[in-house]
Amino acid sequence: MKLKDKVAIVTGAGSGIGAETARRMAREGAKVYCADIRAEAAEKTAKEIGGDAKSLELDVTSSSAIAAAVERISREAGRIDILVNNAGITIVGSIMDLSEEQWDRELDINLKSIFLMSRAVWPQMAGQGGGVILNTASIAGITAIPADAAYCASKAGVVMLTKCMAVDGARSGIRVNCVCPGFIDTPMIHGYFNDQPDPAAARDYAVRLHPLGRLGRPDDIADAFVHLATDDAKWVTGTAHVVDGGLLAGLPG
Ligand SMILES: NC(=O)c1ccc[n+]([C@@H]2O[C@H](COP(=O)([O-])OP(=O)(O)OC[C@H]3O[C@@H](n4cnc5c(N)ncnc54)[C@H](O)[C@@H]3O)[C@@H](O)[C@H]2O)c1
Repeated sequence: MKLKDKVAIVTGAGSGIGAETARRMAREGAKVYCADIRAEAAEKTAKEIGGDAKSLELDVTSSSAIAAAVERISREAGRIDILVNNAGITIVGSIMDLSEEQWDRELDINLKSIFLMSRAVWPQMAGQGGGVILNTASIAGITAIPADAAYCASKAGVVMLTKCMAVDGARSGIRVNCVCPGFIDTPMIHGYFNDQPDPAAARDYAVRLHPLGRLGRPDDIADAFVHLATDDAKWVTGTAHVVDGGLLAGLPG
């Protein structure tokens, strides 16, 4: 077990990539706090995992709620070794389609939350001699997706914030990396397809974009997070690790 006795917080753990990451980290021996704005979804994941896993109702855009949660975890568990900033949303639209409120909401949940969560755990991690912060970015942080402007901008911000935190955290033993998934089969991507004029065609098109011939699964991303959290990645920091079935490598054949 590669994460034995580690204490981990996973946000957006009520669904998709976050739920699978929480499960896999727990399987490697971590005590996982499953955080989500939807309390019952967080509880479901924690219950499924069983053992030491705990659920946490948390809105990652609320600095006061974050402060209370981190204080509780530090008190209860005595340390915080891993933070997975994974909660996210997508609101489809070009800049001409999006309202200012939608832009702010997407940037707050996808990007500002990482600033808020990371700085809340930072003193605990630095004080205990180090830790690992992992962020869910996206291939959309590297290449533009049509009619997804706020999402792409937020994820490009996640890639750069990852690098900034890696550089700033290195001396305190805090490693920071992000994963850039391709299209992953989760409720989020179902919503994205349903917002397209022809959802079935949008799904087929997305599958064809991946040379490996299928959409990704939550475990494809969770495996990358587990690797980056362990000592197998002890000299890895500041990376944007692409896990995309080959999507960014080139045009599909
Ligand atoms: N599915 C994909 O194709 C894909 C691709 C690249 C990146 N991502 C990223 O992966 C991450 C997880 O997405 P997913 O596909 O598993 O989606 P999902 O919708 O299945 O899960 C997202 C979870 O985040 C939670 N959440 C939303 N707002 C929150 C808030 N304010 N506070 C706390 N929790 C909140 C939701 O309740 C939900 O449980 C997101 O950051 C997403 O942008 C997804």
